[in-house]
Amino acid sequence: MDKIKISVPPLSALQARKSEKWRAFPADILPMPFAVMDYELAEPVQAALMSLVQNSDAGYLGNVPELGEALSFFANDRWGWQIDPSTIKIAADVGVGVIEICRLILQPGDKILINTPVYYNFYNWIKELHCEVVDAPLAEKELRYCLDFSAIEAAYASGVKVHILCNPHNPVGALFTKSELAELADLAKQYGVRIMSDEIHAPLVYKENTFTPFLSASETAREVGFAFLSATKAFNIAGLKCAQIVAQSEENMAILGRLPLAVHSRASLFGAIASAAAYRDGIPWLDAVIDELDGSRKFLKELISTSGVAIGYRMPEASYFGWLDLRKLEFQGDVASRFITEGKIAIAPGNFYGPSGNGFIRMNFATSKEIIQDAVQRILSVVQ
Ligand SMILES: Cc1ncc(COP(=O)(O)O)c(C=O)c1O
Repeated sequence: MDKIKISVPPLSALQARKSEKWRAFPADILPMPFAVMDYELAEPVQAALMSLVQNSDAGYLGNVPELGEALSFFANDRWGWQIDPSTIKIAADVGVGVIEICRLILQPGDKILINTPVYYNFYNWIKELHCEVVDAPLAEKELRYCLDFSAIEAAYASGVKVHILCNPHNPVGALFTKSELAELADLAKQYGVRIMSDEIHAPLVYKENTFTPFLSASETAREVGFAFLSATKAFNIAGLKCAQIVAQSEENMAILGRLPLAVHSRASLFGAIASAAAYRDGIPWLDAVIDELDGSRKFLKELISTSGVAIGYRMPEASYFGWLDLRKLEFQGDVASRFITEGKIAIAPGNFYGPSGNGFIRMNFATSKEIIQDAVQRILSVVQ
C-alpha cells in the first residue's frame, strides 16, 4: 500500500475554515493555542461523512453498535485492552461524559482532585458541578513530569471524592506507567476515591512510548475507574461531538446504567459514524499522522535549540503540544496579550493550566513545517 500522505492546506485555505481556531483571531494573528490539527481529514472519515450527507441521513443519534465494536477493535489493536462493545456508553464530548458521571456520584461542594498543569477545562467542569478544586501538582524535574504520590495521598486523605486524571497528560505530554496507574488505583481504593481517566489523547502516542489505559492497569483500577475516550482529538473531528465512556466493574457499570438517556442522544450521528470509521479503518492514517507529528516535534526542538534563546522544551511522549519553558527569560506581563500584540501569535499561556504552569506557554505543532517555523520566529521576536 502507498504511504498515506499527511497534508496541510496553505494558510489562506486554513483561514477560510469556519471552526473556532480560524475565527477566534484576526487574520494577521497566527492561532496556535487550540487543540486541533491542521491536517486534512482521514479518507475513511471523509467517506463516512460523505455517505451520511449523500443519503440525507442527518437525524438524531440512535443505536450505533458499530461504534462500540470499532472502539473495542481499536483498543485491542492499539493497547491490548479488551472492552465489551455492548457496555460502551456515548456522550457528546469528554467534558459532558465526566460531568454526567460526576453528577451521579457527587454532591455540590465535594472535592475533586486534578494534577496541574492540566487541561484548563478541568477547572470549568468542576465549577459546573459546583464542586471544589483540589490540586496535587505533577512533580517536575528537568521538564520530565510525573505523579506526586505523596501530594495525591495527602489530597485523598483530605476527603477528595473524585480524581480527574489526564492520561496521557495535556499540556505536558507525559504518560504514566502501568505500575504508577496500579499504585494510584490502590490509593484511590484505600481512600474511597473514584478516578475519571480522560484518555482523549491516547491514540496520539509516539512509537517508542507505551500508553496504558487506566482500566487495564489492575483489577483495582477497574473497581475505582471510569475511562473517557474519543476519536475526536486523534482524527481531528472535535466539532462532530462524540465521546465514549467505559466502566469495567459491576458497580461502575451500574452507574453508567443510570446515565440519563439524553446523554446519548445529545451526541451527534456524524460524530458517532465518523468515529466508528476512524477506529475501524483509520489506523494507517493515524500511524502516518504520528510519523508526521514525530517529525514536527523534532523540528520544533531543532528550531528552539539553534535559536540560542534559553527556552526549555522536552519533546512530548504523546500528542502535539510544545510545552515551552520560558522561566529563564523572566518574561513579564500578561503573556497571552504580549504575544498577540508584539508577535502577532496567539499561544496558550501556561497559567491557564493552573499555577504550576506559570512561566510556560503551550504551542500546538500539528501543522505544516512552514507554519511551525513562522510560529517559532514570532515567539522569538517577543522573547528575545
Ligand atoms: C485532556 C483533554 N480532555 C478533553 C478535551 C476536550 O474534549 P471534548 O471536546 O471531547 O470535551 C481536550 C481538548 O483539548 C483535552 O485536551
